[in-house]
Amino acid sequence: MRDCALGWDVTDFGSKDFPRIGRTLFTLRNGHIRDPRYPKSYAEKLILDPEGQRAPAHFHRTKREDIINRGGGNICVQLTRTDAEDRPAKGTLDLVVDGCRRTIASGETVRLTPGESLCIPPRTIHQFWGEEGTGYRIDGVGYSVSSEVSSVCDDMKDNFFFADLVRYPVIVEDAPRIHYLCNEYPGVEAVAR
Ligand SMILES: [Fe+2]
Repeated sequence: MRDCALGWDVTDFGSKDFPRIGRTLFTLRNGHIRDPRYPKSYAEKLILDPEGQRAPAHFHRTKREDIINRGGGNICVQLTRTDAEDRPAKGTLDLVVDGCRRTIASGETVRLTPGESLCIPPRTIHQFWGEEGTGYRIDGVGYSVSSEVSSVCDDMKDNFFFADLVRYPVIVEDAPRIHYLCNEYPGVEAVAR
């Protein structure tokens, strides 16, 4: 769990505005891109999508990820192509949604209803969120659940943002810890990532 960063992953990406820019994930399986003891080439995460909250727009240089709507409401996925310098670019994107090829305009948002999925190729800027007013309502907030099935996930080095954000911010603890996060296990600094 420690070496492959499995388990709870809760982050505001340093935004200090968790209800708007943040994410709650649980990594179920993963390999390790630089450690032959963990040869799995694939990863799986569950993601909680409360309405109103997004992860920041980002892309990966190596990871290819499928986003799957596992239930609740609709998941909106905004996709933007990059140019040769990894900057946002105009044009079109060729996608596969539920196994069907589709061409969209760069920057367009695709809506996934429960059960639907799409594949995000490396170097594609993406941001996704639960569509307002469509999720299971708990205490007045709509929730959806998505999952990510991907190539091996290197969260330490393969996340690229367009703002001054970080993948694992330092958390100021104001209550006793109940669970370790995936980047907090004792001895994690000793692992060469
Ligand atoms: Fe991603």
